[in-house]
Amino acid sequence: MLKEQTRTQLLAKYDVPAPRYTSYPTVPYWSENPTSEQWIAALQKTFADNPQTAWSLYIHIPFCESLCTFCGCNTFITQNHDNERTYTKAIHQEWGSYVAQVPQLKTAPIRQIHLGGGTPTFFSGKSLKRLLEPIMAMVNIDPAKFEGSIEVGPRVTDRDHLEALRELGFQRISMGVQDFNPEVQHLINRIQPYKMTRDLTLLAREVGFESVNYDLIYGLPAQTLESFRETAVTTTSLRPDRIALYSFAFVPWIKKAHRLFTEDDLPKGADKRALYEIARELFLEAGYMELGLDHFALPDDNLYQAYEQGELHRNFMGYTDMRTDILLGLGVSAISEAPTCFHQNEKLISTYKKRALAGEIPTLRGHLLDEEDQRQREQILQFMTQQHVALAGPAQAEDVRDYLAELLHDGLVTIDGTELAMTERGRPFLRNAAMALDLRLRRNKPDTRVFSQSV
Ligand SMILES: C[S@@+](CC[C@H](N)C(=O)[O-])C[C@H]1O[C@@H](n2cnc3c(N)ncnc32)[C@H](O)[C@@H]1O
Ligand code: SF4
Repeated sequence: MLKEQTRTQLLAKYDVPAPRYTSYPTVPYWSENPTSEQWIAALQKTFADNPQTAWSLYIHIPFCESLCTFCGCNTFITQNHDNERTYTKAIHQEWGSYVAQVPQLKTAPIRQIHLGGGTPTFFSGKSLKRLLEPIMAMVNIDPAKFEGSIEVGPRVTDRDHLEALRELGFQRISMGVQDFNPEVQHLINRIQPYKMTRDLTLLAREVGFESVNYDLIYGLPAQTLESFRETAVTTTSLRPDRIALYSFAFVPWIKKAHRLFTEDDLPKGADKRALYEIARELFLEAGYMELGLDHFALPDDNLYQAYEQGELHRNFMGYTDMRTDILLGLGVSAISEAPTCFHQNEKLISTYKKRALAGEIPTLRGHLLDEEDQRQREQILQFMTQQHVALAGPAQAEDVRDYLAELLHDGLVTIDGTELAMTERGRPFLRNAAMALDLRLRRNKPDTRVFSQSV
């Protein structure tokens, strides 16, 4: 029998490029691009099948005043705040094009509006109202079932923003924190003193936000076990309701600013994972529950309750507590989903604006899901949110058993009949195991670097 491998060896062995599975198929495997007309037809069909289909709205605001060098988001760095007015005009025009062709968007229940970025609070409180009020006045909101959430940059967010958002009915706020350590902050070009995060958290509570999330990242330059322990202790002392503890996705072939770091500057393998583990231990001790790949929530937060009820969902924004059949994304690079179609808007802001203002749906690309895609999407979604999934039958169980032979051997997953499950020891390797369900990736392995490392 093989000697049992140490955790360090396992982390080195399975540290391979792997998707994060915020969609299936993953974006590099999108094919059969829908035209704008096909995308509209997918929305129309969903509402024709059920005029009361619940839906969610995502609005992407790409602007940031300065670039954090670790950032992997779709951003546009500028200090020119005239953008607030011109970008709002483009979003309103895009929204107008949708309602003209899919009028059910006005009558079907909207469950969620999420503002993401970039930094949505690049906009002033007034501009956020100017953006949202005309849209919110046209849609069917049941305040008892509505969730409004926003990603804010603490360095540019003040009381005016929070009050405006509360007046719009927003209850959830997510703050980028990343790391409290000044040296790490210096290296990632993001000076955000502790006091700034603390004051904004207190203010969010004072004006009535129900849930505060912090984003942290492990695997950044200069992070040590000691420094990251401090970051985790400081985090628990401020008691956000949710914590996202992301693995630094280092993608220098996509993001130029990542080239400021070399592999040698960054913790990796077991050293990187140890940063996660140390924070995890402190969060669990402080009463947080661990969910999915990288989230923690207090037991009375909706995200944890959704997890308990098997309703945790995962989409392009990460883990959420609500699933709707339609997610409509407005704004540059925004991604939308319907049961049979993914759709992404133009990624270049000038092209996006030009097309939206011309009354076009600014389609860049997307994917029409066939039956196999739809089945695999459900399996991967269940696996990424619950860490176990019922396979389609003995043939798939056999196939997955073959593909995951090493992980089975190393005690990281189990297959019991047709039930695939991660073991506790296998937790860090969820992305590796999910690849067994990713038929498109398995049929056509990428020969260039596409995905970040799994650890
Ligand atoms: C749109 S930003 C959050 C809001 C705001 N812009 C801020 O930074 O405060 C979304 C989150 O994505 C995460 N993120 C960005 N780039 C990342 C990367 N390369 N790897 C892992 N997480 C990343 C960060 O934790 C960040 O807070
Ligand atoms: S982390 Fe946030 S503030 Fe920094 S560049 Fe990315 S989106 Fe902008």
